[in-house]
Parts: sequence; C-alpha cells; structure tokens
Amino acid sequence: MSSAAPVVTVDGPSGTGKGTLCAWLAATLGWHFLDSGALYRLVGLRARRLGLALDDEPAVAAAAARLPVTFTILNGEFRPLLDGADVAAELRTEAAGTDASIVAALPAVRQALLQRQRDFRQAPGLVADGRDMGTVVFPDAGLKIFLTASPEARAARRYKQLSDKGMGVNLGPLLEDIRRRDQRDQQRAIAPLAPAPDAIILDTTELGITEVEDRVRQLLREQGLA
Ligand code: C5P
Repeated sequence: MSSAAPVVTVDGPSGTGKGTLCAWLAATLGWHFLDSGALYRLVGLRARRLGLALDDEPAVAAAAARLPVTFTILNGEFRPLLDGADVAAELRTEAAGTDASIVAALPAVRQALLQRQRDFRQAPGLVADGRDMGTVVFPDAGLKIFLTASPEARAARRYKQLSDKGMGVNLGPLLEDIRRRDQRDQQRAIAPLAPAPDAIILDTTELGITEVEDRVRQLLREQGLA
C-alpha cells in the first residue's frame, strides 16, 4: 500500500447519488475507484453460492477472506469478476443489497475485507465509496464527504433507475427496503453508518448532480486536491 496516495471518501446511504458523484470524481481527478458496497455484495453472493447461512460468521468471513474476485473496467464502469465471470447485473439486484447488509453486520467479515479495501489506495489517488470509508477504512483521507437525502427521495431515484432499465418495480416496497436497510446499517454494533466527525455533510434531497459537483469542486480546491 502506498500510504502517501491521497484519498477522497464518499459515504452515506444508498440512493443519495454517491455512485454518480464517485464516478465523476474519479474521472475528474484521474484517480482509482473503490466501490466497497460491491465487495459486501460479492461476499453475500459467494456465501449464497456456497450454500452458507448468511449469519454463519466464521464461514462467511472465511469466504470473504478468500473471495475469488478480480476487477476490471468495462465501458468506464467498475466491473467485478467472481470466479472469472461478470456478475455485475446479479450484484445490483435488491436481493443482493439485502444480503450484503446482512453479511456486512458481521465483524469478522468487515475485518476480512479491511486490508483488501486499503490495497486500492494507490497513486495517483483513490475515490472510495461506502458507509465507513471516512470512519474506519481511510480515517486519514484528505477529504471526507457524507451524502444524505430523505428516504422518499432516495426511493424515487432508485425507482427511476430500475424503471429506466425496464425492470418492473413498485415504489412502496422499495421505500420499505431502504428504511429496513438504513436501520440495519445504522444500528449495527461495528462500523455503523455515520458521518466521520470531520466529514462534510451534503443533503442531496433538493440538489441536482451539477449542484453537488459544484460544491465538491469547491471542496477539492479548498483541500488543495484540484
Ligand atoms: O453501497 P451498496 O448499496 O452497494 O452497499 C450494499 C450494502 O453493503 C449496504 O447496505 C451496507 O450494508 C453494506 N456496506 C457496508 N460498508 C460499506 C459498503 C457497503 O456495510 N463500506
């Protein structure tokens, strides 16, 4: 690990625009990108494929430590390969998100993924997307951003994303799922979803992506990162 490489962390619940902001940041800065949620989704998927109970902490943690994953960039998108196969579509399902938040509550699983996440920190820099990037994984990051938005706004964005992809979805269950996942992420004993004390909190409920980018561009300048 090159400890000198700068890091910008973007944490917050899903549906706040983290993914879009991180893609823009990584492209603007020309830095590497870590989608830590994908790692937890991969652990959930791997555990399912191995037939493990998702609450069998030692077994799921052992699977996380030996995750046969590589990463590739396809059309500018960060695509994980599990056992050499592209599983991006499977990872983005609501079920995979729920499985991820279950295995993510297991301390041994988080520990097993810690170094793997830190290994992404390489020159010229890293943009890290997740829930505990600024609090646990990269506490010394040069800029920490925490995005929030109302559950209703986040459910509406997710609904639009899925409908645009031609997937039949209902808003009610999406909102319920978001609320359940938030609760699990915020209340878990280890690395709960919370802003770092030195994070800049941006509420994106009423902000468009251009406004968020303008604000972040200004923060990058203030931190001497751009
Ligand atoms: O960001 P994404 O929706 O892909 O994350 C899926 C789940 O993985 C989250 O709901 C959360 O429970 C977990 N996660 C986590 N820590 C991270 C990233 C994701 O606990 N750094």
